[in-house]
Amino acid sequence: MEKKQHPCPSFPHFIHGADYNPEQWLEMKQIWDEDMALMKQANCNEMTVGIFSWSTIEPREGEFDFSFLDETIEKIGANGGKVILSTPSGARPRWLAEKYPEVLRVDDQGRREHIRGRHNHCFTSPVYREKVRRINTELAKRYGKNPTVIAWHISNEYSGQCRCELCVNAFRDFLREKFHGDIRELNRAYWTTFWSHTYDDFDQIEPPGVLTETGIHGLNLDWNRFVTAQTVSFIENEVAPIREYSQLPVTINMMYEFTELDYHKVARVIDFASWDCYPEWHNGDDSVIAQRAGFWHDLYRSLKKKPFLLMESTPSLVNWKPYNKPKAPGLDVLSSLQAVAHGSDSVQYFQWRKGRGSSEKLHGAVVGHDGTADTRVFRSVQTTGSILQKIDEIAGTVTDAQVALIFDWENMWALNYCQGYAKDDKKYFETCYAYHRVFWERGINCDIVAPNADLSGYKLVIAPMLYLTGEETISNLAGYVRDGGTLYGTYMMGTVDENDLCHLGGIPGGELKEVFGIIAEEIDTLYPAERRHAAEHELADYCETVKLLGAQAVVCYTDGYYKDTPAVTRNAYGKGTAIYQACRDTGSLKEKVLWGILDELGIDSAVHAQAPLAHGVTAHSRTDGVHTYVFVENYSDKEVPAVFLREPMEDLLTEKVTDCCELPPYGFGIFKK
Ligand code: GLA
Ligand code: ZN
Repeated sequence: MEKKQHPCPSFPHFIHGADYNPEQWLEMKQIWDEDMALMKQANCNEMTVGIFSWSTIEPREGEFDFSFLDETIEKIGANGGKVILSTPSGARPRWLAEKYPEVLRVDDQGRREHIRGRHNHCFTSPVYREKVRRINTELAKRYGKNPTVIAWHISNEYSGQCRCELCVNAFRDFLREKFHGDIRELNRAYWTTFWSHTYDDFDQIEPPGVLTETGIHGLNLDWNRFVTAQTVSFIENEVAPIREYSQLPVTINMMYEFTELDYHKVARVIDFASWDCYPEWHNGDDSVIAQRAGFWHDLYRSLKKKPFLLMESTPSLVNWKPYNKPKAPGLDVLSSLQAVAHGSDSVQYFQWRKGRGSSEKLHGAVVGHDGTADTRVFRSVQTTGSILQKIDEIAGTVTDAQVALIFDWENMWALNYCQGYAKDDKKYFETCYAYHRVFWERGINCDIVAPNADLSGYKLVIAPMLYLTGEETISNLAGYVRDGGTLYGTYMMGTVDENDLCHLGGIPGGELKEVFGIIAEEIDTLYPAERRHAAEHELADYCETVKLLGAQAVVCYTDGYYKDTPAVTRNAYGKGTAIYQACRDTGSLKEKVLWGILDELGIDSAVHAQAPLAHGVTAHSRTDGVHTYVFVENYSDKEVPAVFLREPMEDLLTEKVTDCCELPPYGFGIFKK
């Protein structure tokens, strides 16, 4: 059965395009025509427009002038291209903030911002919501059924917080609702008798900040939850008029290692995921950089469990890192196809053409200030475009993963607030990346999911450092194992509940003790240079001691005061198995245990690989339910030994049948069966 899921159903192809800002060239209109010719030459078929166009389309309050957008969309359409149309709320026109200062944010010292920058409006302000709704309505009415437009890009990179009176009151209402209007319930959940910080009324509550309370961890967590909820409600306000006048799907562009919003929640109000990927290529081992970017590609695919779009990437360099280095020859094409290997249905750039002025004038773009196609960067984009055309049948295919890794924003916030362990250096991202790497190196697809996700389709679920586990998570994980799943947990698991209160009766909390068949006792936090061992494996940072409650020790510590006690345990529970790794290893322990589990569960690589592939090499697969498409990628700048496929396949780039993929520096292959 065919199972394709195109993010933009009205254009069931790979999208190859860029952020396009022709409003910056209104006084040099010849550039617009040059752009059209260059887009064809670059093998681009899409432009994302309108992201920062508010002052052009509504120069004065209520006075709309759509001529610029009409002409842009019409030109792109006539040129054979498609448009992803943005709502402009990411940056507002000057008149709006001058007339209605309430749209400007207030910081955590009570200071209201002046007009500056972007992505900095108050999410609560009824005026801002109303103005955004108005312009989105106009846009949706005018372009919602335009055949050139294929999707809506809502605002830009939502982020940040506001502590104005409107937001503070909304926060109090949020808490009133959560705690059923009962301040005693809040006091209980927040453990406020500690330091005599008991509240008498919801109106006494202030958001955590530089001058306010930060020691109540439940409050901190609820503030993060509120910021997510308020952003989600702002997005809903943006999307409502669009849904009224348009059937086209909506997305928001998300970010790398973004900590401020719980994207698991945000994803519920969009139709497909998209994100902006800017790894720091060549700053160290490119295979590590690639694998970390791959983690986020996997996450964005898993958010909606279907193909996503790579909404932004640079074809050469960015301009906002401490050092801004262009991609080496070959890496731009490879890193673009990396997104596709992980489930993207697009390769899109920021930006099409370099602007002449302001802060992003030196940011990489498909077309530079020379305005020609005769550059290394332009040719690289052309190459990517022609490859996407060759492999177009892959667009819409999905990713089947038998392994999932749990990543959770709430858990990350709770770990960051937690005073204990290595207080300011708990390494949640790094630990998740380290487990993800085991699968990346073997060429095994891995989904990244929320703790409350439906886990029933996975043979193996990894839950690194899952410190915060509420009732729902505990019962989800326990149910998964009971029904036959294999769960791999680690030190710190199940320490606190959803209000950041420690579980009583021992950890991991609740039923997780029976699931893992252990009870954890103490954590030895090591100093940075300290090392311990478990058999031949080196350990760093954390060695937790556990008592067996039915589990078996798989590996024991060989030094420390816990010598000969369990470092890794295994327990049969219901129809499934639960493995617990009580310590952090520097590489080999988790690999050894996980490789054994992969063999036991019969989880195979996308290619022929009984062991990790050569350093820098990985593989991924996509499927339409009938065909399998395999991507083999080499992120090292050296030629590496050829990778063998599991069986002879069609090489989609050479159209020959082969079972072998040669891998020059930054080389790759794409195969079909
Ligand atoms: C972000 C923004 C873009 C641009 C790029 C530069 O992703 O969405 O508008 O500023 O960064 O890298
Ligand atoms: Zn506000």
